[in-house]
Amino acid sequence: MVTAYDKCFASLASKAGIDALLVGDSLGMVIQGRSSTLPVTVDDVSYHTRCVASASSNCLIISDVPFLASATIQDAVNTARALVQAGANVIKIEGGSNLTKLIKLYRDQGVATCCHLGLTPQFVNQFGGYRVQGRTSEAAKHLIDAAVAIDQAGTDMILLECIPNHVTEEIMRVTTVPVVGIGAGPSANGQVLVMHDLIGITCGKTPRFVKNFMPQASSIQEAFELFDRAVKDGSFPASEHCFEE
Ligand code: KIV
Repeated sequence: MVTAYDKCFASLASKAGIDALLVGDSLGMVIQGRSSTLPVTVDDVSYHTRCVASASSNCLIISDVPFLASATIQDAVNTARALVQAGANVIKIEGGSNLTKLIKLYRDQGVATCCHLGLTPQFVNQFGGYRVQGRTSEAAKHLIDAAVAIDQAGTDMILLECIPNHVTEEIMRVTTVPVVGIGAGPSANGQVLVMHDLIGITCGKTPRFVKNFMPQASSIQEAFELFDRAVKDGSFPASEHCFEE
């Protein structure tokens, strides 16, 4: 999976064999130049979802529910309607075991969900920064319990961000749905990177879990292909991209 925000890059990723495109609220940072994802609106994600969906691709399109856009039942319904009608196949919601009611609400209405656990950027102010989560045994247990609860509530996918490898391994053992990781070690079923990081045009500090595939590629499409191959043959993420504890 890679993030995509427009038709052109969505087409390249699709031609490269990428399975899923994430219209992430990371667009606030990489497209809009904001310092966090918090200012991103449902209209912003809907607009970029329409752009991505206009590419003819076989990729699954996953769109982010922005900050506080599902805080009430009415908001949750309006947000899902906007994102799915813009072209999302799955909507991604950040949180933990607090998501179970929302998952059930969406499930009853035919909306597929991906739950984002771990370093959930919409919680940056509560976390006090972008920090690896689940490092203490108590925090790890909290994450594992949340993964079990959202799996049982009927989520369709889980995305794990910036947690130690062993926590991902345990979540893989106790849940039943596909798990995609970013900075969550090699044991997840799939991996996602922000497109800009993968092609080496990250603004500011490059996170540990990022690999720039551009130096070995002669085109952006080839960089996507190298990422796809490296994930599928297990060579990415390597230990230097992971958090051992
Ligand atoms: O918004 C986003 O692009 C994301 C990924 C970093 C997982 O949530």
